[in-house]
Amino acid sequence: MFLYLVPLLRPDIVRKAPFFRLFARYKSSGSSKRWLRRQKNDIYSREAKHENLKSRAAFKLLQIDQQFKLFHSPGGVPLNVVDLGAAPGAWNQVALDKCPRQSKILGVDILPYQPPRGVSSMQANILSKRTHENIRNFFQKKDNKSMMEEFEDVEITTVGGKKLTVTEGTIQGANSASIDTYSRPQDKSPGSNQPVDSEQEKHLEEAKNWPVDVVLSDMMANTSGLAVRDHEMSMDLCDAALIVAIDLLKKNGKLVIKFFTGVQDKYLEQRLKVVFHKVQRFKPSACRRESKECYFVCLGKKSYYVDKLIVFRKA
Ligand SMILES: C[S@@+](CC[C@H](N)C(=O)[O-])C[C@H]1O[C@@H](n2cnc3c(N)ncnc32)[C@H](O)[C@@H]1O
Repeated sequence: MFLYLVPLLRPDIVRKAPFFRLFARYKSSGSSKRWLRRQKNDIYSREAKHENLKSRAAFKLLQIDQQFKLFHSPGGVPLNVVDLGAAPGAWNQVALDKCPRQSKILGVDILPYQPPRGVSSMQANILSKRTHENIRNFFQKKDNKSMMEEFEDVEITTVGGKKLTVTEGTIQGANSASIDTYSRPQDKSPGSNQPVDSEQEKHLEEAKNWPVDVVLSDMMANTSGLAVRDHEMSMDLCDAALIVAIDLLKKNGKLVIKFFTGVQDKYLEQRLKVVFHKVQRFKPSACRRESKECYFVCLGKKSYYVDKLIVFRKA
């Protein structure tokens, strides 16, 4: 009973108590206050809530799509879309809304999340080679139920208190020798040494090996606050997304890739230009002005097969 009276009778004592100092520090933290105020005043955050969108990130993709018609499909043919760094799922929502019916959309994230109905998801690290194989299997297999069972086999481990999906064969980034361990998909297929009889057979083979129409990547690692480090981590994630695009994207396919600006982004741009006819920097107005994030919108993959060694040696 007495304890309840202490705050009323002696507020000076309570203010000195450790828990109060902790609370006061949190309460008065300038950055958290600023963040809350910014969220409250931010028109996109308010609108996202109003529109039942998972986050304000949805508006970035909507603005990119408005400008570049990412999901345009002549004749309403269903599209295959892979969304990398998909949690909490706002880009999934936009893709689902913009793609023709029956499109196949797969969200991939290192964190677990609940995709919207009609979208499949995979919890996996894009820096793992196995993740790339699983994405390929997802789009090549007709029966995605058995695919889901396979995903459950992926080894889960705990790193620094966080549950991570860990598989062997980590991609290290552009300068890594490990990138050439990615084999040309055609080489694996049975009978690939035999000459292709007809144009039609060739098309069927290409459609099977490069099944994806659009690769989206909004991936971002936890920011460290150190611009150089954040930039480098972003470049590694971009290279992993570029590898997905090289391996799986159809001829004329599209890639949207988020990056943190910095000294190395011009080399990323050069790599992208080897693979795509058109590469454009685009900062949607939904991005915060002070943020270093930006997007490369890449249109028209030049060919089905692209030699990764040429791309990654280029820059
Ligand atoms: C800005 S959020 C994406 C927001 C999402 N586009 C949306 O619309 O809701 C970036 C995401 O990238 C994911 N990410 C970071 N590193 C990753 C990795 N190595 N593999 C897969 N996802 C990763 C994070 O877990 C995070 O959910």
